[in-house]
Amino acid sequence: MKKAELLMIPGPTPLPEAVRTVMSSPAVGHRSAEFKDVLKRVFPNLRWLFQSKNQVFLYTASGTGAMEAAMSNTLNVGERILVLVNGVFSQRWAEIAKTLGLNIETLDVPAGEFHTPEMLREYLEANQGTDYKAILLTHSETSTGVLNPIKELTAVIRQSHPDALVIADTITSLGAAEFALDNWDIDIAVSGSQKGFMLPPGLSFLGLSDRAWKAHQTCKNPGYYFNFTRYQKAQLENTTPYTPATHLILGLDIALTLMMEEGLENIVARHAQNQAMTRAGLKAMGLELFVKEDAYASPSVTSFLPPDGLTVDAVRAGLKKRFGIIIADGQKDLKGKIMRIGHLGHISEREVLATLAALEAVLNELGHSVPAGAGISAAMSVTRKAVATHA
Ligand SMILES: Cc1ncc(COP(=O)(O)O)c(C=O)c1O
Repeated sequence: MKKAELLMIPGPTPLPEAVRTVMSSPAVGHRSAEFKDVLKRVFPNLRWLFQSKNQVFLYTASGTGAMEAAMSNTLNVGERILVLVNGVFSQRWAEIAKTLGLNIETLDVPAGEFHTPEMLREYLEANQGTDYKAILLTHSETSTGVLNPIKELTAVIRQSHPDALVIADTITSLGAAEFALDNWDIDIAVSGSQKGFMLPPGLSFLGLSDRAWKAHQTCKNPGYYFNFTRYQKAQLENTTPYTPATHLILGLDIALTLMMEEGLENIVARHAQNQAMTRAGLKAMGLELFVKEDAYASPSVTSFLPPDGLTVDAVRAGLKKRFGIIIADGQKDLKGKIMRIGHLGHISEREVLATLAALEAVLNELGHSVPAGAGISAAMSVTRKAVATHA
């Protein structure tokens, strides 16, 4: 009997049953009164998730669409920007910027490491006279499993470059890590549906500050499909400017309700627990973690190296074939060098324990001996009694 696979990759993530059910509803008219009622709930609930008083725009596009929208709506050809790069997705900011004709500077740290506030302060002080129109950050760098301290990094930016737009990729951190757009004084944050939102891919989200809105108003070529003004106007009437992915939005309505029922604090605590269990379990099995410091490891994804003598392909194939558990390979330069276990969205200790137990079995079968139960017992030692997801 073939069972559904367990997706332990950093997106797409597993879907709650209530989300799947609503997405099999009959066709719905996107301009109908019923659909407007759905959007009327979804828009304020998105503000809650972003922790913002302003509108949050909803795009029918994957996360990269919202990344492009963040820049195309606020920046002009030739303007200087600084991108903090430590992986594939932070590098994507620079790639998009190139296509928009921006004047790009990057501050790079090696993959697996994070940008410290001290490092950024030093860099910005050395460039005090440079008029950065925007500084672009990545909260959870999914390609490596690093959580960059964007709250502290933004505070540093405000000291020397108070007018620069701070634009953050929160694609695998929103709904997983602590985040507050207004309180952290971030200008734009973008996210995507197939991550902490517990939905299939296809929607992206963009929250913004008054400062970002002002930049949009003087932007010379803000584009058509992603244009903030069109989304702002439509949202005031509980609609979208163009035909949206209606069934993803029906799912979003349910997913946001589930998230509100759980509460932000509990969501963050559950992901912190997923991360702590995974890291403890892997370490106890003698595996090397790619991100060394617990405090800067993403609550959404954990990267680790294959043990000596085994390949990433062999371990991933064993997990898939024997247990139907899917974990991710490394990306680009890290392909074949690290593996990534995603533990965000509709994931809690049950899935983490199953993955660790399956990994132990696969490693043993591949000839790398792991003491029986080492990973599981280390993971159990960090579980919080308060999280009883199946009580
Ligand atoms: C941190 C981060 N940024 C950007 C993206 C790109 O998002 P999408 O593939 O939805 O366009 C991803 C996707 O995994 C991501 O994890």
